[in-house]
Amino acid sequence: MTQDQVIQDQTDSSRLDGDAGFAARSFLRSGGLTSDQVRRRPVIGIATSWSELNPCNLPTRPMAEAVKRGVAAAGGIALEFPTISLAESLIHPTTMLLRNLMAMDVEEMISASPIDAVVLLGGCDKTVAAQLMGALSADKPALSLTTGPRPAGRWRGGELTIDDSWRIADERRSGLLDDRAWHEVEGCISPGPGVCNVMGTAVTLAMIAEILGFAPPGSSLLPAGSPQRLASAEQAGARAVELARDPVLPSRLVTREALTDAWRLVCATGGSTNAVIHLQALAGRAGVRLSTRHLREASRTTPTLGQVRPNGPHTLADLHDEGGVPAVVRELGPLLHLDRPTADGSNWREVAAGTAPGPGRALRPAADPVHPHGAIAVLHGSLAPRSAVIKRSAASPRLLRHTGPALVFDGLADLRARIDDPDLPVTADTVLVLRGAGPIGGPGMAEVGGLPIPAKLYRAGVRDMVRVSDARMSGTAAGTVVLHVTPEAAVGGPLALVRDGDPIRLDVPAGTLDLLVDPDTLDRRARDTPPATAPRPARGYRRLYADHVGQADEGCDFDFLHATPEETP
Ligand code: FES
Ligand code: MG
Repeated sequence: MTQDQVIQDQTDSSRLDGDAGFAARSFLRSGGLTSDQVRRRPVIGIATSWSELNPCNLPTRPMAEAVKRGVAAAGGIALEFPTISLAESLIHPTTMLLRNLMAMDVEEMISASPIDAVVLLGGCDKTVAAQLMGALSADKPALSLTTGPRPAGRWRGGELTIDDSWRIADERRSGLLDDRAWHEVEGCISPGPGVCNVMGTAVTLAMIAEILGFAPPGSSLLPAGSPQRLASAEQAGARAVELARDPVLPSRLVTREALTDAWRLVCATGGSTNAVIHLQALAGRAGVRLSTRHLREASRTTPTLGQVRPNGPHTLADLHDEGGVPAVVRELGPLLHLDRPTADGSNWREVAAGTAPGPGRALRPAADPVHPHGAIAVLHGSLAPRSAVIKRSAASPRLLRHTGPALVFDGLADLRARIDDPDLPVTADTVLVLRGAGPIGGPGMAEVGGLPIPAKLYRAGVRDMVRVSDARMSGTAAGTVVLHVTPEAAVGGPLALVRDGDPIRLDVPAGTLDLLVDPDTLDRRARDTPPATAPRPARGYRRLYADHVGQADEGCDFDFLHATPEETP
C-alpha cells in the first residue's frame, strides 16, 4: 500500500495525524488555529446552511458559536463549513428541485472532510431534509440542530401566523384587501428569523430529526433565538464529542422501526404532507422498504392528537409547553419502538417516562383523540395506482367523501391564466385538477397543489373545494387537497388522461381516489393523445435531475443515491 492510499483510506481526523498530516495541519494553522488546536481530537464538523438568501436559517450563526463552545469544553475542536442553503420563499422554481443537490453537497463534505462527527445546522424545510439524507449516506455520527419557530406577528389587534398568508392572499386576489392592509401585513407576518411558526414542513422535519435520534429530545420546538435553544446547541456540541468517541451511526438510527415511528409522529401531530416524501427518501438511502401500503396502515392505526395550526386553534408554543415530541411519544407509547436511542444518549422509553401529562389542548391525550386515525391519509385507486396523500386534519369533513366533475389545468401557466376567469365553468362541487406539476413535470414538484379557490367562488363565500394534483403543498396550508398523485401525469399516470367533466370520486375514509371513466375509454384516450412529456433539459444539474429523479413514493430521490445492497445496514 502506498502512502497515498493510506491517506485516501482515512475518512476521519486521523488524516491530520503524523507526518502525512503536515500539510493539512499547517493549512489549518493558516486560519489562525494553534499547534495545540490542530492536534486536538475529535474534530467536529459544523455543517451550516447560514445564508442571507434564507432568513429562516439566519439563527444558525449564533448557534454555531454555541456548538463550538460545547465542543471546546468537552476537549474537541469544531470546524464550521458552509453548504448550500434552500429557502422556500426565495428559490425558483422550487427548493425541492435542489434538495438532492444539497443532500449530495452535505454527504460529500462530511465524507471528504477530516471530521469525526458532524453537527448539522438548518431550519427551512428542505435544508433539514437534505442534511438528514446527506448525513445518513455519509454515515458519520451526526446531530441535527434546527433554528426553531419564529415568533407570531401582531396585526390590527390580533395574532398573525404564517398560515394566515393563504387566506390573506385569497382575499387580495379576490379584491377584498386594500393596498394599505396588504402592505401592513407584509411587514408583520414574518416578524423575525426562524422557521414558519405553525405545524409546517420545517417544524415537522425538526420533530422528525428529534424522534429519529438526530436532535436532542425536547429541542425541536424551542423558539428561534431563545437562550434555551443556544444552551441546547452548546450541550449538543459536547454530545457530538461523546458521539465521535463512542459512535452511534446514522445507519443505526434510520431503521424501518424509526421511520415508522417518525411517520406516526407526523400522523399524530398533523405534520406536513411533505414529510412522507422525505421519509421515503431516507428509507431509500437506508435500504429500508417503506411501502405506501405500510404507511397507509400505520396512519390508520395512529390517532390524531395535535391541534396546532393549521390543524386547529393552538400554537407551537402551546405544544412545546405541553411537552413537545417527548409528550407525543408518551401518548403514542405502545405504538412506538421505545427502546430506540435518543440523541442525548438515552432512549425514548426513559425520555417519555420523564414527561408529565399537560392540559391536553394542543396535544390531546391518546385516550381522547381528535380523531381515531392519523392526520395524513394515504390513498390508492384508479387515479392514483401507486398512491396519493391528503391531510385530512386540515380538510373540510363534508368533502372527505365527494364525487364531482373534473376541471383540468395543464401546468401552472394554464392555472394562472384561467383560475380567476369570470367565465370559468366551475361550481363548488367541481374537482379542480392540476397536472404536469410533479417531480418530472414541474419539474421539482412545487408546493402548488393547494390550488386557489376561483375568485368568483371565493367572493361568493366558497372557502374549500376538492383539489387533486401531482404537486406538493406547503405544510402551512389547509383545505381538501389531494397531493402527490403517483405516477405523475408527465410519466403517463392516469392523471394525464382526465378530461373536463370526468367524475372523480374521493373517499378518504375508504382510502380511495378514483377516476370514474371506463378503462376502454381511457385506453382509447391514451392511444389517441399520448400524454405531454416534459422537455428534457439539455445540460447541467437539471439534466441530472430529469434523468434520475424518482416519483413521490420513492422520495423523489435520485436512483443512484439509494443504498446499494452491499451498503444496506
Ligand atoms: Fe422557511 Fe417556512 S419558509 S421555514
Ligand atoms: Mg413550507
